Amino acid sequence: MPDKKFVSIAFVVFLVSSFLLSATEYRTEEKTVKMPDDVKAIIEKSCFGCHNTDSKNDKAKEKLNLKTLDQLTKNKMIASLKEISETIEENEMPPAKFLEKFPDKKLTDAEKKILMEWANSEAKTLIKQ
Ligand code: HEC
Repeated sequence: MPDKKFVSIAFVVFLVSSFLLSATEYRTEEKTVKMPDDVKAIIEKSCFGCHNTDSKNDKAKEKLNLKTLDQLTKNKMIASLKEISETIEENEMPPAKFLEKFPDKKLTDAEKKILMEWANSEAKTLIKQ
């Protein structure tokens, strides 16, 4: 018969390894937001300057960091995608004051459509998963 100490060590090893195993499984199942090149190009042109890890605009970064969208929980990802779609539809983003200075960053109707369709379809895919 193995002694008690051995049994408890073996049990702890078992617990730790099953925890690690389930953690890796969880990671491979992680939900991600796919960003096709055309969407990425528009976001880089009109949104990234403020909604990005290195942004100096703390308020914008706090509300939405487009670089770390993938690190959010599934529900937060869905909420962010919906907000992106809504703010674009209502012409709230990029902010009007910013566009006065940088009119070339304004989204064209075609770009708005691409971003909204992308955000809505990604949100739908996440909801189904
Ligand atoms: C000039 C900086 C700037 C740019 C460019 C910009 N935003 Fe924002 N954004 C902000 C700020 C500041 C806030 C926070 C507003 C507030 O809390 O009142 C914000 C908030 C948001 C929010 C959260 C809205 C909410 O109700 O909480 C979303 C979503 C968003 N922006 C999407 C975008 C998208 C999509 C683009 C590109 C099309 C974009 N933003 C471009 C500055 C910017």
